[in-house]
Amino acid sequence: MNFAVIGHPIDHSLSPIMHNENFKINGEDSTYKAIDIPEEQFHLIKEIVRKESLDGFNVTIPHKERIIPYLDEIDEQSRHLGAVNTVKITNGKWIGHNTDGIGYVKGLKAIYPDLENAYILMIGAGGASKGIANELYPHLNNKLTIANRTLDRFKNWSIDINAISLKEAERSLSEFDIVINTTPIGMKSESELIINLSNLDPDTLVSDIIYTPLKTAFLSKAEENGNTILNGLDMFINQGAESYKIWTGKEPNIKHMKKVVLKYL
Ligand code: ATR
Repeated sequence: MNFAVIGHPIDHSLSPIMHNENFKINGEDSTYKAIDIPEEQFHLIKEIVRKESLDGFNVTIPHKERIIPYLDEIDEQSRHLGAVNTVKITNGKWIGHNTDGIGYVKGLKAIYPDLENAYILMIGAGGASKGIANELYPHLNNKLTIANRTLDRFKNWSIDINAISLKEAERSLSEFDIVINTTPIGMKSESELIINLSNLDPDTLVSDIIYTPLKTAFLSKAEENGNTILNGLDMFINQGAESYKIWTGKEPNIKHMKKVVLKYL
């Protein structure tokens, strides 16, 4: 079978290495490549996918929303989010899914099993945040709190959350068991912090969905404070693993996928 990740730019993607190694260790002769499609050529997607004989593909930045009109079906979660990262092709039919949220929550649950009783603060209210929040929502007994720079970003959210400002998040930081940064702050600059962490309780699990760098300033500061940290690597691996399950119905070798990706980071 043939698979790919479609995005722009895409040359630094670790998805091909991760998936090809998983195929290899499972004894499959499937292929996975990176296909660069700039925005202005995206209308050629059907032809490109046909030419490459793909059985499924991942969609990444900046096309997660743009792919939707090309799908024959979309699952409920992705429709709700307005974003798709996985397409399965069955008998010529394109079916859209989104594995980003479940990818993150699987990683989180592995190191914090008692999610039900946790008080969770998420920072950021973009696409990534919404995907994770929707996935977390049914697991939680306590209301999820989400802080964002601009509060009007919450207007069309259908789940019931506490929406707060970044300043309020800084003030109430010690009340949370888990704090997750879903903004891109920390990806480019080694010192930039989305919020001040001086009120952080050392027992709080601090997480960032970024995995390049593996340790953002947000995570470094938390670690210096004695907190347990979780970066975005497991989210990346698990979203790929979930895509593989959708395409093949089989279980991937997650440990091996992670080992391979870590070699390249
Ligand atoms: P993604 O799909 O990766 O989540 P996005 O939808 O563009 O990307 O969302 C980016 C998130 O990071 C948003 O919560 C955004 O805050 P706003 O809604 O106020 O724009 C947040 N963000 C990005 N740059 C930021 C900055 N410099 N300071 C604070 N928040 C920032």
